[in-house]
Amino acid sequence: KILILDFGSQVTQLIARRIREAHVFCEVHPCDVTDDWLRAYARDGNLKGIILSGSHASVYEESTDKAPQVVFELGVPVLGICYGMQTMAHQLGGIVTSGHQREFGHADVRAHGHTALLKGIQDYATSMGHGMLRVWMSHGDKVTELPPGFKLMASTDSCPIAGMADEERRFYAVQFHPEVTHTKLGAAVLERFVLDICGTRADWIMGDYISEAVAQIRAQVGDEEVILGLSGGVDSSVAAALIHRAIGDQLTCVFVDHGLLRLNEGDRVMEMFVGKLHAKVVRVDAAEQFLGHLAGVSDPEAKRKIIGREFVEVFKAQALALTASAAIKNGESGSRCVKGATWLAQGTIYPDVIESGGAKNKKAVVIKSHHNVGGLPEQLGLKLLEPLRELFKDEVRELGVALGLPYHMVYRHPFPGPGLGVRILGEVKKEYADLLRRADAIFIEELNNFVDEATGKNWYQLTSQAFTVFLPVKSVGVMGDGRTYDYVVALRAVQTSDFMTADWAELPYALLKKVSSRIINEVRGINRVTYDVSSKPPATIEWE
Ligand code: XMP
Repeated sequence: KILILDFGSQVTQLIARRIREAHVFCEVHPCDVTDDWLRAYARDGNLKGIILSGSHASVYEESTDKAPQVVFELGVPVLGICYGMQTMAHQLGGIVTSGHQREFGHADVRAHGHTALLKGIQDYATSMGHGMLRVWMSHGDKVTELPPGFKLMASTDSCPIAGMADEERRFYAVQFHPEVTHTKLGAAVLERFVLDICGTRADWIMGDYISEAVAQIRAQVGDEEVILGLSGGVDSSVAAALIHRAIGDQLTCVFVDHGLLRLNEGDRVMEMFVGKLHAKVVRVDAAEQFLGHLAGVSDPEAKRKIIGREFVEVFKAQALALTASAAIKNGESGSRCVKGATWLAQGTIYPDVIESGGAKNKKAVVIKSHHNVGGLPEQLGLKLLEPLRELFKDEVRELGVALGLPYHMVYRHPFPGPGLGVRILGEVKKEYADLLRRADAIFIEELNNFVDEATGKNWYQLTSQAFTVFLPVKSVGVMGDGRTYDYVVALRAVQTSDFMTADWAELPYALLKKVSSRIINEVRGINRVTYDVSSKPPATIEWE
């Protein structure tokens, strides 16, 4: 295995991710582990190499974090990245100087000599015969004098010592960030380190992650009980499946149906988790409560607030019931005391952790707006269990597939917490939600049916998010011999990589035609279908 010591950089988990992509097992631990801890960690002989990450500390706030000195005494290869390089230089007798200017952005690095790390790794060769590497830099301080035993491995115009190596001891360090995609050959550099220099085998797969995570969850939870808010979305579903794999019936999922879900969503979730996985799921039908509170409210933000507030209320009531110790009737032999839940599990994933600035503080609590149960763990005295907090979205999906969740559940489009509440413009009514659900199901079904010949993918896969919006206005139509006066829906489909900006999708006319005719024919009450051709910005993806 490879150990990554985390000095608090925002991109430390990217190092882990690149190593997982190279099919090598790695673990991230905080940089302040003790020498004794590290010696014990290395005792079984499985530790093949150590990577020292960058730090979040800027030029002006000096970091005093150091690597445990034992790092350099275990006889395993060490790679320092950015701050990791500086602390390596400092701890081994080199000199690090505070830079006056922060170097941030692309740089061209000249790889000197033929170190095992960078040999042959180059984007392009120069007439000087040096390989050039296009890299990403983000640092203020820099190494200005090599530690004894080290030779220069790489340099840039503004950073003469951008890489150093002591090949005898197998210590390598680079000032740039090989883990980010801006460093084009960065993955190759990391792969070279873990496979060739550390001599690990590329045999780790996501399936292995499951057994590691299962063992960890069992160790963490022991025989205690866990509750989890299940939405049917990717993250909470994968978290539920993983935790269930680990502790079975010690997990209780709470699925709140606020009446603003997609067609048959509740049944599908129950079928999957109860029917197939045999997990314990409490399904709460709170549609009446939500719709009651939403009656007469048309302001989008007010609607969001009400839905968020009611969600907390409903979830809290369930959580309270599940956390209370209870005496339950145990057959003929009398009562048995069941301990209440002491853990709240969440599908927090790594990007959520970064967003909250919690990358270094492992205790940072992240609550998704989706499951806005902020403050609940404290109020109920619950401990947090977040088994996905080191994974990226695509890794969560891969894990979901490895856990046996169906493809369509793991690769589904995002669905907002307030659900159809923000897709019914203005006041939310049950009648509107019922019409919208049916129209939306037709749209999604046809997106799945239509395959693009050029890519072989269907249009659900080719769009990032697609849904139907209910417009509470009526327009005139004609059906058979009669005049209709019915509602209008808008179809929305966008393509985006980050949901911050988005283009409306150029869906084939044949698809639009089919969807339109099916909705108008099959959903009595809707007689007009429009297609939204607005991009974000200036429009948003949702209509409210
Ligand atoms: P907008 O409409 O802001 O949407 O372009 C960007 C992404 O965020 C989702 N979204 C929400 N998700 N609660 C959520 O959980 C919300 O209140 C909410 N509003 C928007 C939206 O579906 C899209 O993916």
